[in-house]
Amino acid sequence: MKKLVNLSLLCFLTLFLIHCSYKEEKDLIKPGAEKCDTSAVKFSSSIRPLINNHCIVCHKAGGTGNGDFSTYSGVKAKVDNGSFRNRTLVVKDMPPSGGLSACELQQLQSWLNEGAPNN
Ligand code: HEC
Repeated sequence: MKKLVNLSLLCFLTLFLIHCSYKEEKDLIKPGAEKCDTSAVKFSSSIRPLINNHCIVCHKAGGTGNGDFSTYSGVKAKVDNGSFRNRTLVVKDMPPSGGLSACELQQLQSWLNEGAPNN
């Protein structure tokens, strides 16, 4: 009886370990390979978080950046003068440290192509 218990415990453990390592392997293969969804890019759900992560530290009232991106209209002013697209997608010197992922760049482009709506 004791042997049987030990055996099933061993089976369970083995299955558990296999399951875990399988999950880890999937996680290892994944990074950077996730799909980039540019079909439904919205200012509120995609662009605002991106700006907060990468731009706002300088582009805020009293910040070092040229332009205050804490409001939509502050961002839109730089979209309208052409500098937003130019600096992020063409010259690519904003943010100065780089740091926008390929997916974030695609999302910015898609949002700008839609006319940079406040949605
Ligand atoms: C480390 C600080 C810093 C960060 C982070 C930063 N910027 Fe800037 N940005 C500046 C400074 C300083 C200027 C003004 C000097 C210049 O034009 O290079 C500037 C200028 C700009 C301009 C030109 C505005 C104009 O009218 O000429 C745009 C557009 C811009 N930044 C967009 C962005 C965007 C978008 C991000 C985030 C993706 C970002 N910046 C992140 C510091 C920063």
